[in-house]
Amino acid sequence: MLRYLVPFHPKRVPHFFTDVLVVGSGLAGLRSALAVDPELSVLIITKDSLRESNSAYAQGGIAGVLTPEDCFEDHVADTLQAGGPLCDRKVVERLVYEAPKRIHELIDWGARFDRVGDRLALTREGAHGCRRIAHALGDATGKEIIRAVITQVNVSAHIDIWENTFTVDLLTLDGVCRGALVWNRQHGKTMIWAKQTILCTGGAGQLYRETTNPDVATGDGMAIGYRAGAELRDLEFMQFHPTVLYIAGGSRNLISEATRGEGAHLVDRNGHRFMPDYDPRAELAPRDVVSNAIVSQMELTRHPNVYLDLTHLEAEKIRERFPGIAAICAEFDLDITQDRIPVRPGAHYMMGGLTVDTEGRTTLPGLWAAGEVTASGLHGANRLASNSLSEALVFGAHAGKEASQAAAGQHDSFCALMLESPRVESVSEPLNLADIRNSLKSLMWRSVGVRRDAEGLSEALENINRWCRYVLGRQFCDPGGWELQNMLCIARLMIEAALARQETRGAHVRTDFPKTDHKHLNRHTTFVCEV
Ligand code: SIN
Repeated sequence: MLRYLVPFHPKRVPHFFTDVLVVGSGLAGLRSALAVDPELSVLIITKDSLRESNSAYAQGGIAGVLTPEDCFEDHVADTLQAGGPLCDRKVVERLVYEAPKRIHELIDWGARFDRVGDRLALTREGAHGCRRIAHALGDATGKEIIRAVITQVNVSAHIDIWENTFTVDLLTLDGVCRGALVWNRQHGKTMIWAKQTILCTGGAGQLYRETTNPDVATGDGMAIGYRAGAELRDLEFMQFHPTVLYIAGGSRNLISEATRGEGAHLVDRNGHRFMPDYDPRAELAPRDVVSNAIVSQMELTRHPNVYLDLTHLEAEKIRERFPGIAAICAEFDLDITQDRIPVRPGAHYMMGGLTVDTEGRTTLPGLWAAGEVTASGLHGANRLASNSLSEALVFGAHAGKEASQAAAGQHDSFCALMLESPRVESVSEPLNLADIRNSLKSLMWRSVGVRRDAEGLSEALENINRWCRYVLGRQFCDPGGWELQNMLCIARLMIEAALARQETRGAHVRTDFPKTDHKHLNRHTTFVCEV
């Protein structure tokens, strides 16, 4: 594995200096930037536009204890119950106890959450014991939260933003992260020297053919952290959302779990409501249980999908509560109040990632991380629905504050630091990147999907290793190639992790090891790249 994807000569590229560098502009990235002391400079780098992130697509809502009828202990218990022993109670408690304060901060910043009278309207989702999920504009919670937070960022004079800028690799010197090598069309390669760096690059759903994630979710942060020497863990745990719109030719839109929270049923091709056959909690069982049940029912009925049925619910209320979902379905001639919605599971949220402590510190000095790119111990083997926007706020704020304090104590000594040019420029034969990317996504869906076994995983690893041999050593000159290199790097580790965990636990379902094995109770699968 090459340490840097591209060659660069420190004397021949522009340099930029900042106190804190934030990579990624989802909710975790924006919130961490806002937590940095305004006396310091912050640069946010994002490979697309500021608004394009997984957070912005979140529909269902944001979880927190927001009414006197709910309590912290119950939210902690539900999170631990869904994620199992791989959760870290300290981390779960931090999320639960701090989420309400962060949600109220959003309201102070102008986020318009839905209300019933003067109280927040709360919905319920799978494995939550009560209604504890706040939502905005019906089913556009992520979009509204991001709008409010961007408004805050835009009035913060100490925060700079570079959009359409790809982070190729982290810069490391003497085992410490010193910033990043980035690329954009305007300036080409630029070395960003940062006293402290925070990775908030989100997940890796794009490794799969069926996914709710936008195009940007290609696992870049995990790959660049790994190449720089930071530890990754628990990559076998990709959460599959049970209900992704499945229409030939249509994009794979999320159909929010909140629809089930409001009473929608899952039925098979024959109209049979099957979830009670699998779990007494029926449609509101945890996500791993529902996704698995859907796959079983698809097999049983020999049908490529099941259906979400809202037709028994009050039509007007449903249109008002889920305007975005109604509009997407209408594009395919489906009226959600009269027609059943074809759905099946899709890759949704990566629970593994960069190992971090409760403050967001990675194992690489100078590097912090928050949000979906991390494995903090919050989600264990199966994330509780709607805990991720709260995660981004709570742990983004901690990472930003801690990185800020660390940067405040450092001198401006960057100019004395010089990195070696890693290797010379060598142009390779062009490759059909789209072809490899599509093959990778199909392979991951087929062999590392909702269910896996040793035979499929080993075959997938063999294929990926072959592709890695001729893709990873190549020099590309724009993001298409670098993204593919990152995707292959993370896919390979995900498969190795899935092979190593010879048991079924949460979202990791091994058909050849169908039982949970208590030998593996607290065992994390970890990877560190020798640099
Ligand atoms: C949803 O609306 O179903 C997604 C919520 C989440 O993934 O937390």
